[in-house]
Amino acid sequence: MTAGPATLVIFGASGDLAHRKLIPALYSLYVKQRLPQDLTIVGFAIDDFDDEGIRRSYREWIEAHGGGVDEQRWREFAGRIRYLRSGFEEDAGYGELKSILDQAGPGGCLCYLAVPPRFIVEVIRRLGESGITREDGGWRRVVVEKPFGHDLESARRLNRDIHAVLREDQIYRIDHYVAKETVQNLLVLRFANTIFEPLWNRNYVDHVQITLAEEVGVEHRGAFYDRVGVIRDIFQNHLMQLMAVVAMEPPAALEADALHNEKVKLLAAVRVMEPGEVERYALRGRYRGFREEPGVAPDSETATFAALKLYIDNWRWDGVPFYLRSGKKLARKVTEILVQFKRPPHLVFPGAGGFRARSNLLALCLQPDEGVHLRFEAKVPDTVAEMRPVDMEFRYAESFGESAIPDAYERLLLDAVAGDRSLFVRNDGIEIGWRLMDPVIEGFRLDAERRPCPVYEPGTWGPAEADELLGRDRRRWLYGCGERAGEACDTASHEAAAGQDQL
Ligand SMILES: NC(=O)c1ccc[n+]([C@@H]2O[C@H](COP(=O)([O-])OP(=O)(O)OC[C@H]3O[C@@H](n4cnc5c(N)ncnc54)[C@H](OP(=O)(O)O)[C@@H]3O)[C@@H](O)[C@H]2O)c1
Repeated sequence: MTAGPATLVIFGASGDLAHRKLIPALYSLYVKQRLPQDLTIVGFAIDDFDDEGIRRSYREWIEAHGGGVDEQRWREFAGRIRYLRSGFEEDAGYGELKSILDQAGPGGCLCYLAVPPRFIVEVIRRLGESGITREDGGWRRVVVEKPFGHDLESARRLNRDIHAVLREDQIYRIDHYVAKETVQNLLVLRFANTIFEPLWNRNYVDHVQITLAEEVGVEHRGAFYDRVGVIRDIFQNHLMQLMAVVAMEPPAALEADALHNEKVKLLAAVRVMEPGEVERYALRGRYRGFREEPGVAPDSETATFAALKLYIDNWRWDGVPFYLRSGKKLARKVTEILVQFKRPPHLVFPGAGGFRARSNLLALCLQPDEGVHLRFEAKVPDTVAEMRPVDMEFRYAESFGESAIPDAYERLLLDAVAGDRSLFVRNDGIEIGWRLMDPVIEGFRLDAERRPCPVYEPGTWGPAEADELLGRDRRRWLYGCGERAGEACDTASHEAAAGQDQL
């Protein structure tokens, strides 16, 4: 990193993301003394604020949402924030920003685009034209938020337009799931321990389930969500990235390009579904009441729930299904990755009668109860050979304290300022996500022409058809992090004929 002062420019400083995520993360970093000493924050937006006004607005937001501030600390932190009032299409605003940077002297500048997606190219183009992206006085980086395009074609176009101004290593595409502590811990779990990796393959793993469930509905974002739906909102980015981290090969080093290479290599091995196959390997659902949400079309066919079965065609994972599901208004907010191991081939215990041993389950809980649980069989005391599953548990809160897990935006902001792109997504990672999900979106569209979308009740685990997707393979959805081992019932037999189990 070039020495000298750093400036963080938040485009869209008066918006929701700036209030809800960016400023609270920056304040928290400031309190922990992790922000660079000389970091200045410039808010850029069209709203009628001045320096004091935007500082007050941020503080009020934090206090109204239960995050108190220390008077002295806040005053010091707020003193670093200034406001530049300008439209994204106004040259004068960029001219003014350039003078602020010139006055600050040689140093870095991170431009965070918390802007409506239609402005991404516009802002970057103007940053280029005004000379702000030139690196003669220090580094220049741009953070881009999701959504990154709405299909493969638009993502490629967006990458092309951005590359007309910036090198790839100046672009930081956010996927805040990748920056969650628990996802980073997955790398540590896999690659800093010897006991998991030998089992992490088709010889021992029966299948993998990844669930990203939300309890809330579309809230105030009905019109946006109706255009987007669950595949674009969650699967193309978060779930593809999580799957890549779970299944990729060990990177040569914990370094951005080495990590990205492995993730992209893994996603390139995921079998692409044909739209005509979607009925067999995917299903969609809509929560009751979605069409009545403000901003949603009364005849909307947008899916608020989806479940997919994917295969990875490589040596490690050949024939191992990855079941992915996500939806809104589900029973519980939870994000978890469950690795279901194969059952023991033969049970030797006398007196076990008709008892069938359960498989071991490794549950990686990303939220809300962050931790790792390993389920295995134990003998019930004072019985001949009765067995029951029990859990070996690691909980972040117990091991490292309640406040150990910072918000993902803290990590992302620090890394972007430090120039570490490991937790951001490279252009080919974005495009491959679309290559995999475009046929699913098209398949859902074709399906919608043939039959109505299955409707599920809010507070459930989605439409009944979601159970059939696994039921056909004689498996069932598991609830690793919320369901205690003792309550878990046996998983179905995994003797599904190989032919049945293949795409
Ligand atoms: N909010 C989240 O939690 C979240 C999560 C993930 C990704 N994102 C992404 O982050 C980006 C920003 O989201 P957001 O929720 O913060 O959106 P938002 O609340 O609509 O904020 C957009 C900001 O841009 C400003 N703006 C709009 N048009 C402008 C113009 N022509 N000139 C200057 N300023 C203008 C807005 O000012 P006004 O207030 O005057 O409109 C506001 O400050 C989007 O790409 C979104 O998809 C957001």
